[in-house]
Amino acid sequence: MAAYKIFKVSHRRSLEGLLAPGHFMMFVLIMFATSLNDIIGDPVIYADDIMNAVSGKSRRLLYVEPLSSSAKFISPLQNPKVAPDGVDAPSEATATQTVFTRKSKYISHESVINFIKREKSPEDALEIFNKASAQSGFQHNNSTYGIILHKLAQCKKYQALDGVLHRMTYETCRFHEGIFLNLMNHFSKASKHERVLEMFHSILPIVRSQPSLKAISACLNLLVDANETDLARKFLLSTQKDFHLKPNTCIFNIVIKHHCKKGDIESAFVVMKEMEKSEVSAPNLITYSTVIDGLCASGRLEDAIQLFEEMVSKHQIVPDALTYNALINGFCRGQKTDRAKKIMEFMKKNGCNPNIFNYSSLMNGYCKDGKLEEAKGVLNEMKAAGLSPDTVVYTTLINWLCRSSKTNEAIELLKEMKENECKADEVTFNVILGGLCREHRYIEALNMLERLPNDGVYLNKASYRIVLNSLCKERELEKAVDLLALMLHRDFVPHVGTSNELLVSLCNAGKVNDAVRLLFGLVQRGLKPDPLTWSVLIDLICRERKLLLAFELLDELLK
Ligand SMILES: *[C@@H]1O[C@H](CO)[C@@H](O)[C@H](O)[C@H]1NC(C)=O
Ligand SMILES: *[C@@H]1O[C@H](CO)[C@@H](O)[C@H](O)[C@H]1NC(C)=O
Ligand SMILES: *[C@@H]1O[C@H](CO)[C@@H](O)[C@H](O)[C@H]1NC(C)=O
Ligand SMILES: *[C@@H]1O[C@H](CO)[C@@H](O)[C@H](O)[C@H]1NC(C)=O
Repeated sequence: MAAYKIFKVSHRRSLEGLLAPGHFMMFVLIMFATSLNDIIGDPVIYADDIMNAVSGKSRRLLYVEPLSSSAKFISPLQNPKVAPDGVDAPSEATATQTVFTRKSKYISHESVINFIKREKSPEDALEIFNKASAQSGFQHNNSTYGIILHKLAQCKKYQALDGVLHRMTYETCRFHEGIFLNLMNHFSKASKHERVLEMFHSILPIVRSQPSLKAISACLNLLVDANETDLARKFLLSTQKDFHLKPNTCIFNIVIKHHCKKGDIESAFVVMKEMEKSEVSAPNLITYSTVIDGLCASGRLEDAIQLFEEMVSKHQIVPDALTYNALINGFCRGQKTDRAKKIMEFMKKNGCNPNIFNYSSLMNGYCKDGKLEEAKGVLNEMKAAGLSPDTVVYTTLINWLCRSSKTNEAIELLKEMKENECKADEVTFNVILGGLCREHRYIEALNMLERLPNDGVYLNKASYRIVLNSLCKERELEKAVDLLALMLHRDFVPHVGTSNELLVSLCNAGKVNDAVRLLFGLVQRGLKPDPLTWSVLIDLICRERKLLLAFELLDELLK
């Protein structure tokens, strides 16, 4: 098991020549740790090979500081403090590290990038990275570091990632902030917010220039979006101190967003006042949109409109779709759809074209207010604007028409859908079935159920249950029994409650034959009548002196 790959230093001097004294000490430590007492092999030992041999055993990589970025060997990357652990490292060694062949093909930057991109295992990706750097004259740069960091972050190899970051501080090439913005995004998604800050603070030592305002606002934004209020505040204070930062509009906007998110509009206004006073950071469209949205969300629609007017007339800021959306949504939610519509008209006049979703939210607003004529008007406007309403739009309107007992109009719309090649789905049909039942138009509903599957329309369980439930409720027992037969024939099982209810209804109406037939059909499909149904059934059957049948039933049920 413990068959270590063993190297021999035949020319110890060459080894010493390659390693600085500190490294030599570490090398000795490693030797000790892995009980390699006899070293056979290539006269020139690459630190890489040793490290990898060790790591193959302890499953950990070791970090060795390179002498300079142009050193012949580049170590795998890991925290130096890991090294002494090797002392009691497990002995399950599989150090199959192949001896590094200096004759292997030259690895270019491009191929490093492609290799690492494709490589699934982060360990192998790191090995390729290291192999490339071992080539003489090769120097990693922003592109290759970027890709290895991305890979390690993706695979959550944070220790190795730290090793790589550490090594970057020794590189002479120029790095770009983008590397750190990517890592900040990664850690934010992984909910490691302290790490987001850590990456931000790595910019200065590694990129060797101050973080840009873009980096600062990106970091602040990530923290605010993640609701990390305390970290965000600390961060803002520290950047102001460290970088003598004058907050720009972007940063102010983030702070405003933060206040609005908490529903603290007054604080948002305070910040806005401060912005107006400052010369470098006048409130802009985003500032206004954020506050308008905040006001709408807290139901302060009049204030929102006032601010909107101030923005347009006093500051000549042209609103965009987001601003309009805030208002339209606000007014729709506040059941002031007419106002929302006015805003939408204003929006159109100003060259901001609403899309199908925007029209639908307006239509929904009208529907909820019970203004169906206006809602239909929106549908027509949508068509006039050259948009084709989709299934969801039609179904929404059909639903509200049916609910208001205007099923005929709903059916008209269904026809229109067909003409416009907009496919009605089972939701649409269920809504219509519900509408027909509400108006007690059972014949039509049953016809639809009977006919639709033959026309290639898929009906679901709910389609049948909607009608059956209504029939039971209205004591339309004959139709209910017919429908049930159709359902069972098509392998749809009614709801247990409905089945029991129907059985009891049939019994109470003295329709013993129907009840019994139904019971058999249902029991075959796994129904368990509840005790009440059961007692009613037995009662009835006994009363009708059909005892034999009752016993047969019992047998069937107790099987
Ligand atoms: C990294 O180096 C390669 C090879 O010299 C070059 O093609 C690439 O553009 C460099 N990338 C950056 C970001 O400098
Ligand atoms: C440096 O790398 C990062 C991360 O891969 C990338 O976002 C950025 O655009 C790169 N910069 C340059 C100048 O290549
Ligand atoms: C944000 O955090 C505060 C306290 O830290 C908490 O009360 C609030 O519910 C959080 N909000 C969200 C949207 O997570
Ligand atoms: C308008 O459509 C856009 C894009 O789908 C959407 O983000 C926005 O919320 C919509 N606005 C309204 C008021 O529905």
